[in-house]
Amino acid sequence: MSKRVQGFSKMTKEAKIEWLTNNYFNNPDEARQTLQKYWHNDPKTQQLHDEFIENTLTNYFLPFGVAPNFKINDKVYAMPMAIEESSVVAAAAKAASFWYDRGGFKSEVVSTKKVGHVHFAYYGDYNKLWEFFNSVKDRFYADTAEITKNMRKRGGGIVDLMLINKTFEEPNYYQIKATFETVDSMGANFINTCLEQFANTLQEAVSESDIFTEKEKDIQIIMCILSNYTPECLVRSEVSCPVEFLETDGVSAEEFVEKFERAVHVARIEPYRATTHNKGIMNGIDAVVIATGNDFRAIEAACHTYASRSGQYRSLTDCSVEDGMFKFWIEVPMALGTVGGLTNLHPVVKLAHELLDNPSAKELMGIVAASGLAQNFGALRALVTTGIQQGHMKMHLLNILNKLEATNEEKEEMKKFFKDKVPHYNMIVNKFCEMRGVSSVEELKK
Ligand code: MEV
Repeated sequence: MSKRVQGFSKMTKEAKIEWLTNNYFNNPDEARQTLQKYWHNDPKTQQLHDEFIENTLTNYFLPFGVAPNFKINDKVYAMPMAIEESSVVAAAAKAASFWYDRGGFKSEVVSTKKVGHVHFAYYGDYNKLWEFFNSVKDRFYADTAEITKNMRKRGGGIVDLMLINKTFEEPNYYQIKATFETVDSMGANFINTCLEQFANTLQEAVSESDIFTEKEKDIQIIMCILSNYTPECLVRSEVSCPVEFLETDGVSAEEFVEKFERAVHVARIEPYRATTHNKGIMNGIDAVVIATGNDFRAIEAACHTYASRSGQYRSLTDCSVEDGMFKFWIEVPMALGTVGGLTNLHPVVKLAHELLDNPSAKELMGIVAASGLAQNFGALRALVTTGIQQGHMKMHLLNILNKLEATNEEKEEMKKFFKDKVPHYNMIVNKFCEMRGVSSVEELKK
C-alpha cells in the first residue's frame, strides 16, 4: 500500500485517522481507540484544540502541576509547570521552600527590546545607500503607522531603525535592523508585519529615487524575520543569604558552599557540563513557559545563544561569596507575552495566568527566571550532596511501577520499601517480582 497521500489536510479528521491507522499500524483498531480516547468530551473544547494546528488527530497530554511557595519580589506564587520529567516539579518546590525561608528570589528586568531584520542584497555604493536610508527613515515609520497604532497606544512600537553593512561577511548583503518594544505581547506577528512593510518601503523609495542606477534599484529582499536572539530583552533573578544559613542535607554550610561554587565554575569553563547545567535550568524555564502558553523553542534558542556570547558555551547562572554572603543568580534573555497567542485562548493557559495573578510580561519574565534559578539550585544542591539519583528515582519509581501495571496498593508498598533507598531499575523490578511471588518480568505478563 502506498504511503504517499494527496490532499491530506483537506480530509476530515475521521478520514485522516482511518487512512493513517490503516497505513501505519499493525492493529488499526487499537491505534484508532488510543487516538479517540484522548479527545475532549466537550466538542467545542476539542474543536479549539483541533484548530491550534493543522492535521490534529488527538490531544497530547502533559502533566500540569504546581510548585508552591515561590517567593519572588516578596510576592508568593504557586508556580504552574507543564512537564513530563518526574522530578522537576518536586525539585522546584523543594528549592522554592528552601529560599522562602531565606528571603526569596529577587527578579529584575534589565531590558525589554526585541529585534528583527530585513535581509537584502544591494548591488551598489554603500555610502549612497546609507545617506539615502537616513534621509527617508521617517517614511518607514509613516508607512507602518497603521500597523503600529495600537502598539504605540500601549507604550510600544518601533524603537530604532538602522542600516547595517554586512558585505565584509557576504558580498552585497545588507540589513535593516529594527528594534521594537512590544510591551505585554511576545510580538512576533507584529514585528514580522512591520518588517515586511519595511521591505516594501525600501524597494519603493529606492525605485522612486533618481540618485540610483537601474542596477542599484534592483534591491533583492532575501527575507524579513524577527530574531529569536533577544539579548536586549533580559531578566536577572537572584537569591542570597549569609553562608551560615546554607547547611543542607547533613553537609556543613562551608563545605556546601565550596562544593557549590566549584560546580558552578565547572559549568562556566566546561561546555560538556555547561550543557547539562543549562538543560537543568531549562527544565524550570520551559515548564513555566509551556504552562503559560509561550513559545519555549524561542526561549531555548535565545538562552543557548546567550550562553555562547563569549565565544564559548557557558553556564547561565553564576555565584559569589563575599563578606560571608552567598549570592546565586541567573541572567537570561526572555521574550515572553501575557497577551496574544495562546495566552487568551487555551483554557489551561488562561488558568495558569490567573494563578500567577495575571502578570505583565515583565513580571512573567521575573517569575520564569526565578523558576530556572530554583531548578538549577535544586540540581546543584543534590549533585554536590546526596547525588541526583536519590530524588530522581524516588519520583521515577512510579513510572516504572506504572509500566509494570502495579496496583495502587502495590505502589504504596513499593514506595514504603524504597523510602530510604536509592533504587535503580533492576532493584525495582526485582522487588516487584518478589512481591508478586514471581521470578521474572516475563512471568508477570502471564
Ligand atoms: C536532569 O533533567 C537535569 C540535571 O541533569 C541538571 C544538572 O545536571 O544540573 C539534573
